[in-house]
Amino acid sequence: MTRSLLLLSCLALASTACRKGPGDDTGAETDPVEVQVQAWLDAMSLEQKVAEMHGAGGAPTGGLWRSGGNPELGIPAFAMSDGPRGVTAGVSTTFPVGMARGATWDPELERRVGVAIATELQAKGGNVILAPVVETLRHPAWGRAQETYGEDPLHLGAMGVGFVLGAQSVGVIATPKHFAVNHIEDTRFDVDMTVPERALRELYLRPHHDVVKARAGAIMSAYNSVNGAFCAENEVLLRDILKEEWGYEGFVMSDWIWGTHDTVGAATAGLDIEMPAPQHFGPALVEAVQGGQVDEALIDEAVGRILRAKLRFGLDEPPAVDPSVVESAAHVALAHEVALASMVLLRNEGNALPLGPGSIAVIGPLADVANLGDEGSSNATPSSAVTPLQGIQAAAGRVGASVNPVTDPAQTASADAAVVVVGLTSEDEGEQIPLFPGGDRDDLGLKPSDVQLIRDVAAYNPRTIVVLEGGSAIRVSEWVDEVAGLVMAWYPGMEGGTALGELLFGEADFEGHLPLSIPVNDADLPDFDHTSTAVTVDDFHGYRHLDREGIAAQYPLGFGLSYTGFTQTEPVVSADGQGLRATVTVTNTGTRAGADLVLLWGATGLPDRAPRELLAFAKVRLDPGQSETVTLSVPADRLQIWDGGWTDTDWTVPAP
Ligand code: BGC
Repeated sequence: MTRSLLLLSCLALASTACRKGPGDDTGAETDPVEVQVQAWLDAMSLEQKVAEMHGAGGAPTGGLWRSGGNPELGIPAFAMSDGPRGVTAGVSTTFPVGMARGATWDPELERRVGVAIATELQAKGGNVILAPVVETLRHPAWGRAQETYGEDPLHLGAMGVGFVLGAQSVGVIATPKHFAVNHIEDTRFDVDMTVPERALRELYLRPHHDVVKARAGAIMSAYNSVNGAFCAENEVLLRDILKEEWGYEGFVMSDWIWGTHDTVGAATAGLDIEMPAPQHFGPALVEAVQGGQVDEALIDEAVGRILRAKLRFGLDEPPAVDPSVVESAAHVALAHEVALASMVLLRNEGNALPLGPGSIAVIGPLADVANLGDEGSSNATPSSAVTPLQGIQAAAGRVGASVNPVTDPAQTASADAAVVVVGLTSEDEGEQIPLFPGGDRDDLGLKPSDVQLIRDVAAYNPRTIVVLEGGSAIRVSEWVDEVAGLVMAWYPGMEGGTALGELLFGEADFEGHLPLSIPVNDADLPDFDHTSTAVTVDDFHGYRHLDREGIAAQYPLGFGLSYTGFTQTEPVVSADGQGLRATVTVTNTGTRAGADLVLLWGATGLPDRAPRELLAFAKVRLDPGQSETVTLSVPADRLQIWDGGWTDTDWTVPAP
């Protein structure tokens, strides 16, 4: 191996082995991290070790939840905060939700979001961020859909890796969650998910595997159980697959409050930290060790992981971060950039958009609301947020349009265009917390009052543009043909209104593409049972299910219009032992700069599998008339299928 290749592999692995000096062949004892870990373990009593393995309980201090830490021995504590759309401890830059960021199809942008959120956490004294969510959107009615990135495992793994690399590049431990098969909210504490091995391996574990390969420092287990064992005490998931098969080096924390059930079961299965308080891992764990039910070697293994993470991330010498990074101009500008890249133009009949100078009526229950997402654990709070109406007014001022906020559909009749802002809120979907609104949805449609409003406005104004907000797919089939324009704005973060105004008036171009399938009818998707506590899932959901059934989506995964136009050539494919490569030439055929999304699909042709699967994607930004040839690479392991073990198979690349 050449020197540069060796360096690359060391960087990629960044393993403790790579920290050894030349000529070292004795392993751990010469690695300063391992030496320190062992010194701490040797100095610690059983009680002190177990104290590393649970949260401190009580109320958070400064909004941060603590676990472990021993000032006498010089061991730093973990200081944790959510979450996926911004730091939830205090006021912080509030980004578009994960699903919106999934619509950017831009892992590098997501890396920058990870850096920003992690830096704000450090400024508040934290060192573990409880994000990202990398759970597959198995059904769009899932209440926490907004926190993840989409329905396709390849895409959401790539986005999750972006966040992890960004957060960890500044020394904050990322915590991808929830491991695993956490797809239902209403029964999340009780539901047992029965998952065949193939679906588990090929779909649901894949994004988790990707973030483990990116060396995520922590993993949070899920509340639900999988194949009969709760995730925090699931030996197959935690010990056999995560730690042994994947070689995961970090630590596993439980999901909070009702995530652990059994002291011996959790310790044996490979749970390392119980959060947020010692229910099963405090005195009960000490007793279990003293009583011989838990081997002390397991405690050393868990505490070793915890201490190693503290050293590897330099928590003993945290960087001094200027508190002014919180909601800094640069971070707010990033929230704006992400919002611009995330909104999806779904319909634009007769070039109803962009809006120009003229009169614009704005109506709808969400028009003048900063609708940032659910009220669960991911609920970040900015000191201010721009509403759709405010953003539309600001952009209108720049292009010489007049904006008239109205409440009666009849008042839209005389306007040159009408913008209707409707959708979901924390009342309709979100994390399921007793006494809070949220949970799963029963129906993918809008509220009847929203549908009526859209229809009424469309009857008065032929240039009606509907702006939808929400964290997942919303069914539009009943009314979409009656309106000229449709925009999916998601929960767009603190700068969402500004971005929306700029996009509607064409100051910026739409470049978001759907990270999920929007079906015509709810019945087009697999059943979503969010009341049962025993649910079986297979490997067909989203586009995999629609394709297999031969059902066209209203708007498929990857769909998104733009103000400019693009062509893509058919992929030219080559393959060797390293995997598969495809080149596609993209041309901007329109008159303004824009971004297009290239999706590389593959098919195994095997009878019992999805007709096609996403193998790679690339986002390309082009000036008018510009062409670029992009190469999409699929590593050999991504082309393997699970057949009792990972097995090679042949793929064809269908024309797009
Ligand atoms: C959620 C996690 C969250 C934790 C701490 C749990 O109820 O499921 O996603 O990180 O609370 O707030």
